[in-house]
Parts: sequence; C-alpha cells; structure tokens
Amino acid sequence: MTYETILVETRGKVGLITLNRPKALNALNSQVLAEVVAAASAFNADPAIGAMVLTGSEKAFAAGADIKEMQALSFADAYSQDFFVGWEELTRTRKPIIAAVAGYALGGGCELAMMCDFIIAGDNAKFGQPEITLGVMPGMGGSQRLTRFVGKSKAMDMCLTGRMMDAAEAERSGLVSRVVPVAELTEEALKAAAKIAEFSLPSVMMTKEAVNRAYETTLAEGLRFERRLFHSLFALDDQKEGMAAFVEKRKPNFTNR
Ligand code: HXC
Repeated sequence: MTYETILVETRGKVGLITLNRPKALNALNSQVLAEVVAAASAFNADPAIGAMVLTGSEKAFAAGADIKEMQALSFADAYSQDFFVGWEELTRTRKPIIAAVAGYALGGGCELAMMCDFIIAGDNAKFGQPEITLGVMPGMGGSQRLTRFVGKSKAMDMCLTGRMMDAAEAERSGLVSRVVPVAELTEEALKAAAKIAEFSLPSVMMTKEAVNRAYETTLAEGLRFERRLFHSLFALDDQKEGMAAFVEKRKPNFTNR
C-alpha cells in the first residue's frame, strides 16, 4: 500500500509510523485514519515485527481531528458513519504500540496517543482536549481514557476548560510514562520498542492483554485472568529458554514458540 499522510519504516524488529501532514499539524482526517490503521495492522501481522512506535513531528504529534473535515458534518452524517469509530481498530492491535509525542497532542491527537499502550513525551509536548472551545466535546475516547489516566478532577479540568497540560504535568499525573529531551524522542521510543521486541512475543502480547484487562474488569476477575495467562506461558519453549538462560548466566534466545 502507498501512503500519503504517513511515513512507514522498519527499524530492526520495530515498525515506525510517522504522521506526516505538516501543513495541517498532522490533523487527523479519514485518510490518516485509514492509513495508520492499515500500517499498524500490517505490522501486527508481520512475524518479523515485535513492537511499534507511532510519532508525529517535533511541532505536533497531532493537533486534533481535522476541523475542516468535520465542520460541515450534520448529526445524521456523524451518527450514520459512526464518525471516527475506525480508530478503535488501533486498540485491537495485539503487539505493543508506543506513542512518541512531541509538540501538540490535542483533541483527537491526545486521544490517539492514549489509544497506544504507553506514551513517551518530548519535553515540549502539550496535551489537551480543546473540543469544548469548538462547541463539541471529546469523541475519540478523551472523556473515558483521560479520566482513567489522570483521574476525575484533572480530566474534568482538561475537558471543561480546554487548557493544555505540559510534559512535566503529564508525567506527574500519569498520562505519560517518561519525558525525554525532544531531540532524543524518536531514538528513545525506538530503543524502548526494540527492547520489547527482544522478548518472547507471546509473553509480550499476553502482558499487554492483561494490563489492558485492568481497565475492563473487576480486580478479582483481572487477577484470575492474569494467573491463567501466567500459567499458560509454561507451555512455551520460551519459558524454558528464558529461565535456563538465567540459571546458565547467558542471554536467552527466544523463538516465540
Ligand atoms: C485542521 C488544523 C488543525 C486541526 C491546525 N490546523 N490544527 N487544521 N484541523 N485540528 C491547521 C491550521 O488551520 C493551519 O492551516 C495550520 O494547521 C497551522 O496551524 P496554526 O493554527 O497556524 O498554527 P499555530 O498558530 O502554531 O497554532 C497551533 C495550535 C492551533 C495551537 C495547535 O493550530 C490549534 O489550536 N489547532 C486546533 C486544535 C484543536 O482544537 N484540536 C481539537 C480538534 S477537535 P492554514 O491552512 O490556516 O495554514 C477534535 C475532536 C476529536 O480533535 C473527536 C473526533 C471524533
């Protein structure tokens, strides 16, 4: 597939997707949606890939859903098309995706970053849900995912005032896992993804599934789910290899079997 709004590269076992609509600060339109979802699905299906990084430019990860595309939508259009539900497809990717966020991550941009498994921020990152300033509200998960990341008080503050949160506040409040100098952002995110891609893929995928389950279920059910997955990993060669390598003081050679 040829892409027009994103760049797609492979770095070793890592798939790198870069949003690339610089003139619109990577505003997310239907074409970006289709291309990101297609690229992520292709990496997900590629046995040579163990993890992905989704990034934008130094000025903007993404300044939101494309306001010019949305402007003329009627209620009937938005509802009948289930406008932007397609992004949910990204959350069904089973391999980890790291969002590497520099600059603006606003509205749908912030929501897209939160659909990834974790966010590494450049020190110039600015997160926000400014939809309220446009006469609407978050529509790609902001009211739900932001609340789970940062709690009710801060989520209400962000969604109701539309103010931006800088990288330090985002790290302090648990929205991002780490902040790095913006010049090193892509390399740091690729390094983290490469580290993940070295591990046994089934254990990586089950770990992602289990952590995500924490948002979907009760503690007792979540613990039970985790324990069942944990037990099942003992059926893999990679468990034998990983533990033998530790005991023999050598590096494991995982085969994803
Ligand atoms: C379409 C956008 C855009 C967007 C920026 N641009 N954001 N186009 N949709 N979300 C375009 C501008 O129109 C402009 O194009 C060019 O990108 C550069 O933007 P400027 O505003 O000139 O840049 P700057 O002065 O540096 O300001 C940066 C900014 C500002 C603070 C990020 O662009 C901004 O406030 N953008 C909108 C942010 C926003 O409200 N996002 C939420 C969208 S709603 P031209 O052609 O004029 O040069 C949303 C809903 C999600 O995301 C739910 C969906 C289901």
